[in-house]
Amino acid sequence: MKISVIGTGKTGSKVVEMLGDNLAHAFDENNPPTVEKLRQSDAIIIFVPGDAVPEIFDMVLESGVPAAWGSTGYEWPQGLDEKVKTANTKWVLATNFSLGMNIIRNAIRELSSGSNILNNPSFNIHEIHHIHKKDAPSGTALSWKEWLEKEAEVTSEREGDVNGIHELTITTATEKIKLTHEALDRSIFAEGAIWAAEQLIKRVSLTSGVYTFGELFDLVIKESRND
Ligand SMILES: NC(=O)c1ccc[n+]([C@@H]2O[C@H](COP(=O)([O-])OP(=O)(O)OC[C@H]3O[C@@H](n4cnc5c(N)ncnc54)[C@H](OP(=O)(O)O)[C@@H]3O)[C@@H](O)[C@H]2O)c1
Repeated sequence: MKISVIGTGKTGSKVVEMLGDNLAHAFDENNPPTVEKLRQSDAIIIFVPGDAVPEIFDMVLESGVPAAWGSTGYEWPQGLDEKVKTANTKWVLATNFSLGMNIIRNAIRELSSGSNILNNPSFNIHEIHHIHKKDAPSGTALSWKEWLEKEAEVTSEREGDVNGIHELTITTATEKIKLTHEALDRSIFAEGAIWAAEQLIKRVSLTSGVYTFGELFDLVIKESRND
């Protein structure tokens, strides 16, 4: 199994480190990818900032190599699933590659439906990241809001070298409920992205098209239950 990495900054460098001998190529701005080089890989993992996605998008699609995208702060174009299907390949998009985020997704859905019995609750999603992060609010905070399916205030804070803290607070006049996720080490994103890339390579039941990380996770869990 050979995997290429595009973007070898704070997060991508962890992927390169964890891949070891399974690394095909590592690309950054000084060593940009080419379709030919990308095709020497079984999968591609991408951690470039959202504003750099348009520079590599067509190349990754043209290569036809399955891709796990971690970039946030980019609005994916309409008809993406069709484009990826036409290229006969598979992409997974993740605002947060932490495997624990899939537990959080289910917990948020529970809190959302449970909060229907509360008296006039208000919802706040607060995220804290390192000072170099380009997008705000984080892609993860936006995913939390989507999973919550409620009107929620989303607030952001930039501080030191924080890897990522997300907190959902539900408040009524008489009680407060909090759910927090903290990324202790950036290697959790690398671990999840490699896991996703491996699924794209080996899971024959995955047809071409675009998957969210959550969809991929649920599919694998479902299949393992049926084994
Ligand atoms: N989904 C997740 O789980 C997750 C987790 C963490 C971060 N992220 C997201 O991942 C992205 C990267 O975050 P980061 O903190 O690792 O950023 P970073 O430290 O700034 O690294 C960005 C990397 O992208 C490279 N790059 C930029 N433009 C490029 C281009 N046109 N072609 C090839 N390489 C290019 C840079 O190359 P140079 O060094 O040569 O400039 C650098 O290696 C952000 O959008 C962030 O929000 C997602």
